Amino acid sequence: NHIKFDYSQALLNASEFEHLKGHVQLAHQMLHEKTGAGNDYVGWVDYTKKLTEAEINDIQQTADMIRETADAFIIIGIGGSYLGAKTVLDALMHPFHNELPKSERKAPKIYFAGNQISSTYMAYLLEHIEGENVYVNVISKSGTTTEPAIAFRLLKAALEAKHGKEGAQKRIIATTDRARGALRTLADKEGYKTFVIPDDVGGRYSVITPVGLLPIAVGGIDLKAFLKGVNDGVDAFANPLVAENPAYQYAVLRNVLYRKGKAIEVLVNYEPSMAFLAEWWMQLFGESEGKDNMGIFPTKMNNSTDLHSMGQMIQDGPRIMFETVVTLDAVEKDIVLEADADNLDGLNYLAGKKMSAVNDSAFQGTAEAHVDGNVPNLHISLSKLDAYHLGHLMYFFMKACGVSGYLMGVNPFDQPGVEAYKKNMFRLLGKPV
Ligand code: PA5
Repeated sequence: NHIKFDYSQALLNASEFEHLKGHVQLAHQMLHEKTGAGNDYVGWVDYTKKLTEAEINDIQQTADMIRETADAFIIIGIGGSYLGAKTVLDALMHPFHNELPKSERKAPKIYFAGNQISSTYMAYLLEHIEGENVYVNVISKSGTTTEPAIAFRLLKAALEAKHGKEGAQKRIIATTDRARGALRTLADKEGYKTFVIPDDVGGRYSVITPVGLLPIAVGGIDLKAFLKGVNDGVDAFANPLVAENPAYQYAVLRNVLYRKGKAIEVLVNYEPSMAFLAEWWMQLFGESEGKDNMGIFPTKMNNSTDLHSMGQMIQDGPRIMFETVVTLDAVEKDIVLEADADNLDGLNYLAGKKMSAVNDSAFQGTAEAHVDGNVPNLHISLSKLDAYHLGHLMYFFMKACGVSGYLMGVNPFDQPGVEAYKKNMFRLLGKPV
């Protein structure tokens, strides 16, 4: 088992879990037989199983070309069109990748754009990359989202000014719908290399499509291992038996806790490399479940950092939250703490201990304190953080989310509410209809 899910500290009676467990069969069926709400967006369930060698090679070869040629790679996208890729790159690349000397860097420097509308950010980015050989992957399923469209217009102009139309054309890769949207029209007209986001996969489930796969491969992450982790998840988390399926257990637990008044779920990590996982997870669950005035509000704690800011609130604030803690059984690098002759900092009691063991004690101590304070704790432990396990974990969350949404009684695959701000913004800007 690459993922262990422990809910012994969920503060539930056995019967509460048992009562809702039965409903999972129906949710499982709705998802697998495509009979539930949003059934035209469940292509992600077995998408990676259907990916052909040729499709994977096309992504890998494009990535290899970029890796060999580019100094910098800019990923333009917002929401589901960048959160997954950034999660994987943050988790698996050197934490100071962009600052490494070129000889030590195993991939181009990586930047993100189009995930907000800040002119300051964009101006600095354009200035910063001026002397670099830049490649751009513009990602938008609809092809009409304002944030990435503005960033792309600016970067396209910068590339064309520097390399001419043809030079820019070679450096731009568009990931978008097969046929629809302004980005598709533009890409076809300019002759960009393109990758397709399938119709039946929504943005927040798209990390396993070229949306995530191309940037991940450019980062030098082992694509095949990532996909194997996902595919093993497709098999493991298709088991309809709740007792044998941790993704379904997590889905049930969330719903039981929600019905008991736990309106907030905090995703907790103890590794900075996993901080962005929470951002991806927040979109996944927030956009899937926040509907019809229902849904668990997903938020995060990056520990032990946030224990020094939000710890008080979790320990003693309103009892409306539960925590889902993700830990690693093995860390990538460890440090043994040594004794100091003077011991002025009083830390000699830690001499001989691994720093990871101190971090682990922070996790254990925190879980104990929060459970004592009546905050249910769910615990997901991953054997280690690599491409395989991260793919497995991300699919675990995706599968749990689909089932959890159906258990909650919402359509987990639409996001009508996202349009409200856009309508107002377009009115204020006088966008022609
Ligand atoms: O989940 C969603 O569909 C959204 O959050 C989108 O991911 C986001 O709005 C980006 O959309 P697009 O890829 O169409 O530019």
